[in-house]
Amino acid sequence: MTNFNEPLQFKSGVTLRNRLMMSPMTTKQSFYNGSITRDEIGYYTQRAAGLGAVITGAANVEDLGKGWDGELSIAHDTMLPGLSALAKGIQSQGAKAIVQIVHAGRMTQRSVLGGHQIVSASAVAALRDDAEMPREMTTEEVQQTIQAFGDATRRAIQAGFDGIELHGANTYLIQQFFSPHSNRRTDQYGGETPQERYRFIDELLTAVFKAVDQYADRPFVVGYRFSPEEFETPGIRFSDTMWLLTQLRESRLDYVHVY
Ligand SMILES: Cc1cc2nc3c(=O)[nH]c(=O)nc-3n(C[C@H](O)[C@H](O)[C@H](O)COP(=O)(O)O)c2cc1C
Repeated sequence: MTNFNEPLQFKSGVTLRNRLMMSPMTTKQSFYNGSITRDEIGYYTQRAAGLGAVITGAANVEDLGKGWDGELSIAHDTMLPGLSALAKGIQSQGAKAIVQIVHAGRMTQRSVLGGHQIVSASAVAALRDDAEMPREMTTEEVQQTIQAFGDATRRAIQAGFDGIELHGANTYLIQQFFSPHSNRRTDQYGGETPQERYRFIDELLTAVFKAVDQYADRPFVVGYRFSPEEFETPGIRFSDTMWLLTQLRESRLDYVHVY
């Protein structure tokens, strides 16, 4: 049996000193604009001791992708000094620092977005209490958001992180594009089949690895978190997820993370 204390080497070349990784857990301690606080850096630095890696709580890649008040942001270059201090704090304990990057899509509220209407793949509200009606993103906005994930990857590299985790789980925007419930688009980012609804993810991975190739002068981890099923009908079923995993297996991802 594999021992938790054995090092773990990823495909990218990054090696963890052991197999204990802290799961991403938001602390909602960031400032209103998503800048990190000293308290949050202290929290992560304390918890990194003894671990192979820390995955931070979700950091939004765009202002309209903010999911909750107190969420960390990686959407602007002005965040770089704070993000860099976070990475250094985690690494000072010998752990690798991985920042989780997210766009909440329809899983947020107008009040969190400073009065702006929430956005998603399509104008379909989530089947949750208090869910608001999102506005369908234009094709141009979809492409800007894909680029925002690429830009966030660049910032993670420049801030000194060892990797990123794409938050493709928990019904946030990446999952919303793959789901037949939230994606009813008629342009190239929608369609009846998982193949058609996978296009957003495919282009996202391309943008992310382009940033890695362009900016990383050291091995850099890229992981992907997914949720296997949805309760909505239509919704993602296990067979769709198995199909998704066969695509992700062929990609350059270092790991997938089930939730
Ligand atoms: C307070 C809190 C915040 C969380 N924030 C995130 C997050 O930002 N991103 C994420 O992918 N999961 C988040 N999660 C989910 C955790 O990563 C984890 O998957 C979940 O707690 C289940 O873990 P368990 O199966 O060990 O109980 C959060 C969980 C908690 C309790």
